[in-house]
Amino acid sequence: MDPEFQIRQARLADAEKIFALIHLNRDLLVPRSMGNIVENVDRFLVAVAGSDIIGCASYQIHPEIGQAESATVEIQSLAVRLPWRRKGIGKALVEAVSARVAAFNPREVLVLTFTPEFFSKLGFYEIPKNKVMHKLYTGCINCTKHADPFTCPEKAMIRDTVR
Ligand SMILES: CC(C)(COP(=O)(O)OP(=O)(O)OC[C@H]1O[C@@H](n2cnc3c(N)ncnc32)[C@H](O)[C@@H]1OP(=O)(O)O)[C@@H](O)C(=O)NCCC(=O)NCCS
Repeated sequence: MDPEFQIRQARLADAEKIFALIHLNRDLLVPRSMGNIVENVDRFLVAVAGSDIIGCASYQIHPEIGQAESATVEIQSLAVRLPWRRKGIGKALVEAVSARVAAFNPREVLVLTFTPEFFSKLGFYEIPKNKVMHKLYTGCINCTKHADPFTCPEKAMIRDTVR
């Protein structure tokens, strides 16, 4: 890990910078309003260098009907500012979110992504989207870019957790 940065829990005062970072990456990330970021600030981690927010990540839990123990945790809103990329910050954010959610003992950690090569390096592997129907019904159904999640180019990838 680059000693120039740290990963920490997001604070309310970080919300505007998180908003800006997600907005900068709007072609690759689901948009989030300021209100949504503030409401969910407890689910955000940030990478900081000095007083700058240089990366962020959050997560959402997707319940499985009748199988609470099989809920999936999705990593969302993962972004690293351009000049800071390829320094291990994205990986550190994924590992920090994964460590946070490990306390809930989820079955797996899920991502929907246009950058599968990055997640492959971290041990994620592709699964058919019909294996994550809970995500499609709660997230993809509201997408304004693609009418059909099965033709959307985003890949569904998971990493099994140790239970
Ligand atoms: C994807 C993203 C978060 C990666 O962040 P990063 O800090 O550059 O990634 P890291 O430096 O931690 O990379 C970890 C490994 O993945 C590799 N990697 C990073 N980005 C990659 C990419 N786009 N394609 C292939 N490999 C990649 C790195 O080379 C590194 O490999 P190594 O361990 O063999 O050295 C960053 O490029 C980003 O913010 N992209 C725009 C938003 C986005 O796509 N978010 C993901 C949405 S699901």
